[in-house]
Amino acid sequence: MSAVLKTSSLCKKIGRRQIIQDLSIEANAGEVFGFLGPNGAGKTTTIKMIVGLYKITSGSIEICGHSVSGDFEKAIANVGAIIEEPRMYGYMTGMENLKYYAGMYKGISQKRISDMVEQFGMQERIDTKVKTYSLGMRQRLGLIQAMLHEPKLLILDEPTNGLDPKGIHELREFLKYAAHQLGVCVFVSSHLLSEMQMLCDRVGIIDQGRLIKVMGISEINGLAVNGSEVIINVDRPDTAAQILSEGGWQGVGIGAGFISVSADREQVPQIISMLTGSGILVYGVSQDNSNSLESLYMQLTGGSKIE
Ligand SMILES: Nc1ncnc2c1ncn2[C@@H]1O[C@H](COP(=O)(O)OP(=O)(O)O)[C@@H](O)[C@H]1O
Ligand SMILES: [Mg+2]
Repeated sequence: MSAVLKTSSLCKKIGRRQIIQDLSIEANAGEVFGFLGPNGAGKTTTIKMIVGLYKITSGSIEICGHSVSGDFEKAIANVGAIIEEPRMYGYMTGMENLKYYAGMYKGISQKRISDMVEQFGMQERIDTKVKTYSLGMRQRLGLIQAMLHEPKLLILDEPTNGLDPKGIHELREFLKYAAHQLGVCVFVSSHLLSEMQMLCDRVGIIDQGRLIKVMGISEINGLAVNGSEVIINVDRPDTAAQILSEGGWQGVGIGAGFISVSADREQVPQIISMLTGSGILVYGVSQDNSNSLESLYMQLTGGSKIE
């Protein structure tokens, strides 16, 4: 199988700083590939090189066999991307934005646009101005835009930042659908281990500009057996556990007067608001961080784990 995205010994220097060092990764058609690393690891820098926003210092990037530095037009024709916030004109309607964008590509029919709008459930708001959209709606419009020309590679840089749990759930389902049903290579970055566990088929872990390891999902999940566990004291554990399971949270357990769920520190506010929003009374929260992302790095880089 030939890779949709292939970086070879990729390096990026900004000024005198080496931001990315010897990064070689391959992502394939039909998989969600997670690019996991803490803030400042170099995820955005790498993605900006892939889509041609940053020059490559050395090494190479190929998309569907076309070199990004040698044959940019052919390479980028296969890419749909959302980097940081989706780029949209607020004073135009959703539909006007889509038509404007579609004009940059050959052969995107009006039917293709309306079908996508329908698929994402945006029909009712598509003729109102984008500046009135919620972040979740902007994200959906951004996805329609990124998918309009049927790209083989879909790239999203920390797409769940700022989304509510429902938005995150929808996004996750769509990305899995795009990879597994449409055969797209989905490349998505995140600093949240548990988010990657719920979404990805394989995960490449990056730290300080270097690839540490690429892992399959079963390997990743195996690591999290005694995972970063959040304990939440609630009035109705059965109902609370059901709400979280249905919301797509992993490793939900039930105890006397409490539930447990596997999540990262940054996700705790989402979980709590999901519960309180459903009328669950929350009395207290605590977290066992023994398998957080940091300790995963320690394990992978050979550092000793403090317990
Ligand atoms: N334009 C720039 N000039 C100097 N340093 C930068 C620039 N862009 C990013 N960096 C540095 O490169 C490192 C990686 O940043 P970034 O790729 O944004 O990380 P991530 O997306 O993983 O959080 C950080 O230390 C950041 O400060
Ligand atoms: Mg970033």
